[in-house]
Amino acid sequence: MLPKKLTKKLEERKTNNGLRQLGMQNTLIDFSSNDYLGFSKNDTIFKASHKYLLDNNIAKNGATGSRLLSGNYTLYNDLENDISQFHNSEASLIFNSGYNANIGFFSCVPQRNDLIFYDEFIHASIRDGISMSNAKAYKFKHNNLEDLIQKYHTERNRNANDKELDIYIVTESVFSMDGDTPDLKAFANFCTQHNCHLIVDEAHAIGVFGKDGNGLIQDLGLEQQVFARIITYGKGLGCHGAAILCSALLKHYLINFSRPFIYTTGIVPHALATIKFAYKTLENTSEITQLHKRIAFFKTKVKALQLEQHFINSNSAIQCCVVSGNDQIRILSKTLEDNGFNVKPILSPTVPKDQERLRFCIHAYNTEAQITKVLQLLAIFVLNK
Ligand SMILES: Cc1ncc(COP(=O)(O)O)c(C=O)c1O
Repeated sequence: MLPKKLTKKLEERKTNNGLRQLGMQNTLIDFSSNDYLGFSKNDTIFKASHKYLLDNNIAKNGATGSRLLSGNYTLYNDLENDISQFHNSEASLIFNSGYNANIGFFSCVPQRNDLIFYDEFIHASIRDGISMSNAKAYKFKHNNLEDLIQKYHTERNRNANDKELDIYIVTESVFSMDGDTPDLKAFANFCTQHNCHLIVDEAHAIGVFGKDGNGLIQDLGLEQQVFARIITYGKGLGCHGAAILCSALLKHYLINFSRPFIYTTGIVPHALATIKFAYKTLENTSEITQLHKRIAFFKTKVKALQLEQHFINSNSAIQCCVVSGNDQIRILSKTLEDNGFNVKPILSPTVPKDQERLRFCIHAYNTEAQITKVLQLLAIFVLNK
């Protein structure tokens, strides 16, 4: 029997029409996955990584232990060197997932009494990491530098006697539930001027923005102003895992103190080989240009159908149409599903109440006809409501 308190929580979720359930991958037209470039199904990457493992005699199904015990191997170190070079970073450290990277970072880097300022829409993995740290954390309004500055000064003054205070400022280069981007240059300049450590989660920018999809921080030339970047491989690169891009000293610290790095089995060799060849494919692919054409087409159609005011402004592969209410958004998503389209409803409490939305993920492989049709269906629902 499930304890009563847990049963009650499940019932509450059901009453709010917010109950989560596992679905299955399907053959609907994909406006839902994070596989922006189609790399998860890329045959060249699949075959090249398999061949690499065979050619290098890496016939192993698992890492066998934590990297600090038996689980480290040459491919790890080689790949970290390649990642650092590709991303113009002094060092990089691979984690088993983006979730692990974020809790691994935030649980051990900010120390007791340090200050963390984070965007109110920051990803759950960062929130969880922050809640595991002993630092004092404050959220600022979404993408709002003025609000951050005000809160920074208030807390800075309150802690004026603490000469050892470190301050961390956290944002994303593409927000996962909104698709939008902060003024990264302004944030970076503020951090440089005020001696704060800037951390940027680039999960949804990798493979999408920058030269060969290297991310927005590099696109803007801000590498030296950022303390750490979190990049993930389960989205634009279509595989699995994550890395923290940082200084060699910070990497050394993480290896010593990041519990989600230390107390877990290393990642399997075929996952690392897949990351290696996903990067190689990024360097020659036409899919990034294709993706941007599709994003531009989507935005043009949104405008033509007079849906613009319902969408959150974004140039990324994530385009969100806000339709308030869990019930409404579920009906809308189901209507699209019945017409062959997979577009996920994002319910509260994942997003604030009344900010429920339909989240379109655009892919290089979505056709103009698919985009036109799905938006026409959306317009019928939204404009006739
Ligand atoms: C902004 C952001 N950071 C981190 C993660 C976690 O990455 P992963 O799926 O590799 O655990 C996600 C995934 O949802 C994300 O959207």
